[in-house]
Amino acid sequence: MSLFYSVEMAPHDPILGLNETFNADQRPEKVNLGVGVYYDAAGKLPLLRAVQAAEEARVAEHAPRGYLPIDGLAPYDNAVQKLLFGQDSALLGSGRLITTQAIGGTGALKLGADFLYRLLDKRLVAISDPSWENHRSLFEAAGYEVVTYPYYDPETKGLNLAGMLQGLEALPEGSVVLLHACCHNPSGVDLEPRHWEAVASLAEKQGFLCFVDMAYQGFSADLDSDAFGPRLLARRLPEMILATSCSKNFGLYRERIGAVSLIGHSAEQTRATFSQLLSAIRNVYSMPPAHGAVLVREILEDAELRAQWLQELADMRGRINHYRSAMVQALREAGVQRDFGFIERQRGMFSFLGITPEQVERLKTEHAIYMVGSSRMNIAGLSEANLGHFVQSLKQVLQG
Ligand code: LMR
Repeated sequence: MSLFYSVEMAPHDPILGLNETFNADQRPEKVNLGVGVYYDAAGKLPLLRAVQAAEEARVAEHAPRGYLPIDGLAPYDNAVQKLLFGQDSALLGSGRLITTQAIGGTGALKLGADFLYRLLDKRLVAISDPSWENHRSLFEAAGYEVVTYPYYDPETKGLNLAGMLQGLEALPEGSVVLLHACCHNPSGVDLEPRHWEAVASLAEKQGFLCFVDMAYQGFSADLDSDAFGPRLLARRLPEMILATSCSKNFGLYRERIGAVSLIGHSAEQTRATFSQLLSAIRNVYSMPPAHGAVLVREILEDAELRAQWLQELADMRGRINHYRSAMVQALREAGVQRDFGFIERQRGMFSFLGITPEQVERLKTEHAIYMVGSSRMNIAGLSEANLGHFVQSLKQVLQG
């Protein structure tokens, strides 16, 4: 008897599967607005100059390749803490904050999910409606019941604040609430400071644990403003957990470099809790690879490389924001009646176009323009070379 005999094909991943179809598409005019990767003005994924310099220095070192500790490279973990909470944060050195290197943002979420599973009585996680395509399945695969709280309002193309707060208020005590720190994926609609205050007050009152996913620090306004939410939660709440990623802001996608940070009531409790996280890591991959961590640490700690990186990050952010406006203007100039002005108000790589799945499919089959079925588009995929094609194609599809 063969165990694998009757196994059915797993469904294609809605984001990564789309990317495979895009790569196989032979049409020269094809445009990839699917997977969340930053493309430059030439439509290419850049290697940041700061990364290149750090990499050259690392290769020249010819360092031996022993195992890292379970929690990775300690100077990387410390540098990440400063990036997340600011150089002057009272949390640094308090013992209440501990960070471990993780394998990308997804790996960080998975570690957080696995480790919390061991501690929680009620394995219930609430994610925003909508949320990143992988959030639900990641937590379900880790054994959680996943529910949603209202978030995006398709009418206003903004936040459904009242719905969100009501949804959070209705959660049973001991739930986990997953929050996007900035550049909400997929809607581009973020919480404002007063909204974060309201979430913190509810967390205090209801006793839910905030689990913050921060994959785009620096892609909305700047490193500090983008971390406003987690910093506020960390000031007001006794405990929280963060999953972070350096894929986007360092352009280190394939190096899979991320982190999990824990904040606890006291140094002693945090150390004990962290030991459970280390044990969860040991059961999955023992210890992380070093390359991405070495590069990020070098860039963050070297004044010249850091300045260069900050400029490159600002350039990436600026190009995305430029295309948010350029796209809206080009659609108006092309005589498209529907108002897409909301795209300019949103931030980060993604926005929902708000078109139907059939229209998304037509963009793909008739015009070689790829975006996720929900009509999430990656604004960073637009460029001078493809904006005209995108606008004319969308216009045609909207005309029916
Ligand atoms: C995305 O949302 O497109 C990225 O975060 C890539 C991924 O893993 O889905």
